[in-house]
Amino acid sequence: MERPAWAPRSIDISVPSVSRIYDHYLGGSHNFEVDREAARKAMEFMPGLPKISQANRAFMRRAVRYAVGEGVDQFLDIGSGIPTFGNVHEVAQAMSPGARVVYVDHDPVAVAHSEAVLAGNDDADVVAADLRKPREILSSPQVSRLLDLDRPVALLLVAVLHFVEDADDPFAAVAELTAALAPGSLLVLTHASYEGIPLPPERAGGAVDVYKDIRNPLTMRSRDEIARFFEGYDMVEPGLVPMPHWRPDTGPEDEDPWALSGFAGVGRTA
Ligand SMILES: C[S@@+](CC[C@H](N)C(=O)[O-])C[C@H]1O[C@@H](n2cnc3c(N)ncnc32)[C@H](O)[C@@H]1O
Repeated sequence: MERPAWAPRSIDISVPSVSRIYDHYLGGSHNFEVDREAARKAMEFMPGLPKISQANRAFMRRAVRYAVGEGVDQFLDIGSGIPTFGNVHEVAQAMSPGARVVYVDHDPVAVAHSEAVLAGNDDADVVAADLRKPREILSSPQVSRLLDLDRPVALLLVAVLHFVEDADDPFAAVAELTAALAPGSLLVLTHASYEGIPLPPERAGGAVDVYKDIRNPLTMRSRDEIARFFEGYDMVEPGLVPMPHWRPDTGPEDEDPWALSGFAGVGRTA
């Protein structure tokens, strides 16, 4: 198989990756046949995965605009993925030129593509790091250069925490990141859940198995479990809700029942 320029030499392009599968759900072109095959398998069980992904991106963009509107102009986006259109830096810098953005991902294609997209943008950068090791993220040169941690930051954990298993204690990782943030910082989060999926969990479980098979297990959490990530934060209205219900631009944004799968919320540190 020919290796395109955006695929770093280090990656095994015969193994599907979470970020490239997600890129395929969103109609992107940074994926291989193995990724599309895995995406097709997952969609056999959950045909609404592209809808869920779109609702997730739409929420993320609204939350970034909300943050800038609240005077927050620094963003730490962990599990940022392969940028499709409407990325955090595009949305934030359109509203607030000079807004600072640090992307973090552990997927080499996501990092390489971010580097290419961000070339020439002095106010945004990318770190190759793992959410499970918050200290490495916080002490990275990119974070030191671009983010002033004495001022509020919007921490984005969008569609990533469900890829961290309980055994790796995602709650501790979020608490460690939160402890580094100044008062008035925001946590912007979405998370997959069996709650809200228009299918019985045993059927939706087929899609979850696809991620287990590619060694990136997907941990569905209940609304109550997801709410625990916001310990130390006051919830911004309307709280932890299905993605289209979080401050829709015009009435309910998406009535497709698939878009109501999972939860989104924004919290503010006191
Ligand atoms: C579904 S995508 C979400 C991308 C983007 N945040 C969004 O919502 O559009 C999940 C991303 O999280 C990344 N990811 C998964 N586990 C991670 C970890 N432990 N550390 C860093 N990134 C991770 C994957 O590589 C992938 O790019």
